[in-house]
Amino acid sequence: MKIKEIKAKNINTKKFIEEKVQEIRQAVGDGLAINALSGGVDSCVVTALGHKALGNRLKTYFIDNGIMREGEPAKVKAAFKKMGIHVEVVDAVQDFFDALKGITDPEEKREAITQTFYKKIFADLVIQSGAKYLLQGTILTDVDETVAGIKRQHNVFEQLGIDPQVAFGYKILEPLIQLRKDGVRKAGRGLGLPEEIFNRIPFPGPALAARVIGEVTPEKIAIVRKATAIVEAQLKGIKAFQYLAILHNDRVTGMRDNKRVFGNQIEIRCWNSLDARKASPTRLSFNVLDKMAAKITKAIPEVVSVTYNITTKPTSTIEAV
Ligand code: XMP
Repeated sequence: MKIKEIKAKNINTKKFIEEKVQEIRQAVGDGLAINALSGGVDSCVVTALGHKALGNRLKTYFIDNGIMREGEPAKVKAAFKKMGIHVEVVDAVQDFFDALKGITDPEEKREAITQTFYKKIFADLVIQSGAKYLLQGTILTDVDETVAGIKRQHNVFEQLGIDPQVAFGYKILEPLIQLRKDGVRKAGRGLGLPEEIFNRIPFPGPALAARVIGEVTPEKIAIVRKATAIVEAQLKGIKAFQYLAILHNDRVTGMRDNKRVFGNQIEIRCWNSLDARKASPTRLSFNVLDKMAAKITKAIPEVVSVTYNITTKPTSTIEAV
């Protein structure tokens, strides 16, 4: 079925929220629903929307998969507590690293994350909670790119002809599916989310695994997590769609303490974009780039080289995996 896009410039936020609240209530009836909050804009907006519709009948979980940004589980939990929404943190770190072990192909990595999320973690949570519905923040860009074969978004099933009820044992509700990121932000504002949440830079479902080229290990995640924290701190507040750090798989010779060492490379990306379909690199000043390179190589002993991506999307994508 073709999804009818609602463009950000046309969205009537109040009406949109009211309609979606009604739709969620109608679908769930007097049952229970669950959702997973990743801290990304889409999942934050869907959490707020779901709670407006269902109140305590929506159970919100933060799946700590070990591949999130620094301090993220506690930060996200605290931010939602302020809004009166209880978030339960589920420790699934080992499950995800086990599932990712030995996998180097990007699509296989995404698939391993999908399967772990939906078949193992969510399926268990659904059974434990008695919920029949999973609320999820899929947006139109996710659908477009998956259907076009550009990327396997981990949150798109029905559009690929996969019935979640059959595959995983529960139904998925996707109230943001007609929107793109700019529309989602407007809905977030309308729902009363704090600006630092609805205007947060996008973060992908597969989390930092989308930023590690090659096999994802706890050691590599630790490196890319530190680099991400530095890039986010340095670029916070600048006018850009998204900024991130990527850990390369290949190594290069570098110098530490007057000795040649074979070390890791971090690539910084910073994007101008409206809706992530096309993007171009932000023309950051060399001063800013210098600072980030110095901070990264100082804070992360394994890293000897830092580069900046100067390619547009396409041919590049925003993430690396
Ligand atoms: P790419 O890398 O495809 O990313 O140019 C486009 C936008 O989507 C985000 N992204 C994802 N978001 N699940 C998500 O919810 C995913 O699997 C996923 N992969 C990429 C990415 O951060 C960018 O904003």
